Amino acid sequence: MLRLQRTVVVGKRAYHDLVTLPGNKPVISSGPPGYSAVSGHRVTVFGCTGFLGRYLVSKLGKMGTQVIVPYREEDEARLFKPMGDLGQIVRMEWDMRDENMVAECLRHSDTVYNLVGRDFETKNFNFRSANTVGPARIAKIAAECGVSQFIQVSHLDASKTSPSKFYQAKAEAEELVKEAFPTATIVRPGPMFGYEDKLLTNMAVWPIWWKLNHGETKIRPVHVFDVAQALANLLAHPQYSRTLNLPGPSTLSYEYLLDLVSSVTLNPPSRAPVVPKAVAIAFAKVAQSVWWPALSPDEVTRRYINDSTVAGDWDAVGVQPSEIETHAITYLRRYRSAENSARPTVLPARPLGAVAEQF
Ligand SMILES: NC(=O)c1ccc[n+]([C@@H]2O[C@H](COP(=O)([O-])OP(=O)(O)OC[C@H]3O[C@@H](n4cnc5c(N)ncnc54)[C@H](OP(=O)(O)O)[C@@H]3O)[C@@H](O)[C@H]2O)c1
Repeated sequence: MLRLQRTVVVGKRAYHDLVTLPGNKPVISSGPPGYSAVSGHRVTVFGCTGFLGRYLVSKLGKMGTQVIVPYREEDEARLFKPMGDLGQIVRMEWDMRDENMVAECLRHSDTVYNLVGRDFETKNFNFRSANTVGPARIAKIAAECGVSQFIQVSHLDASKTSPSKFYQAKAEAEELVKEAFPTATIVRPGPMFGYEDKLLTNMAVWPIWWKLNHGETKIRPVHVFDVAQALANLLAHPQYSRTLNLPGPSTLSYEYLLDLVSSVTLNPPSRAPVVPKAVAIAFAKVAQSVWWPALSPDEVTRRYINDSTVAGDWDAVGVQPSEIETHAITYLRRYRSAENSARPTVLPARPLGAVAEQF
């Protein structure tokens, strides 16, 4: 009798197991929660091989979602294998310029995430082709193939009037994606931190380039896990046609963040001078001609731009964003010397101007 009862309870479906997507059949989840669950969704994550993409695929895999992971480099796609149950992670080679390949990657999916973006130019892709033309093409093909939900990851500072070409390209992408896929959700995270970030870890190695503008530029750093969770939550609670801003909970200056990195790593503060903007841009031009991921002139421009002060939409995605101080030691311990490795963490006092937002 007990066994029968358990079978009935486990097999019972609740209202929240059903998600109805526009123009498509209902998505019904089943099974026990976790790795071997079946969320009922089939999802494509373009840009999955990047910093944010890997955490998103891991979260989707844990929810029992079948994820198509388009990749350009075989080695980059290998790490996805253990992120989902057998057959749940489907790797597909793609080229953003090839419409057939894009269609192949998304034509069986009910939801498409586009995380493709590049904050520096290469010889094959300039800012516009990587951040605007490519995403617009994906959105157009997704609409043609009858995908129900399109989620475009933009940037908190995307603006057509920004002095940064990267932010301009991101803003234009938002418009073109909306034209091609009117119900698309636009997600705009702030600068993200985590193990593979270009923020805390870069500050620990290259403090000189964060002293530009005398460290006065103010940003709203957000934990990559929080953004990945927000994106994953959009599957169960879609926010069609909305633009969701996801800044970190506090507005902090580069000066404070450099102080934080120095305190947490127990390394002395950098005594490097403040490089004038023109010199930094000239240096970046030379550096770019040697190797692309080096500091780019556009990145120098971005280091002078304060993050947008727009309010966060965390309530809509059911996530409470965490503070950078909570996680700093996790990502920065590797920059401590061997004898300092186990010492307790002492955080610097927050400057009076630091703004913490309540969500
Ligand atoms: N990181 C941040 O602080 C931050 C803040 C706000 C918004 N965002 C946005 O969030 C998204 C993800 O950021 P991220 O930090 O994860 O970026 P990332 O680590 O640089 O990853 C970018 C992804 O886009 C793909 N990609 C770039 N150019 C491509 C091209 N020409 N063709 C095909 N694929 C291409 C990359 O593929 P490969 O691995 O094959 O190169 C990679 O999967 C981006 O749109 C970014 O602009 C990032």
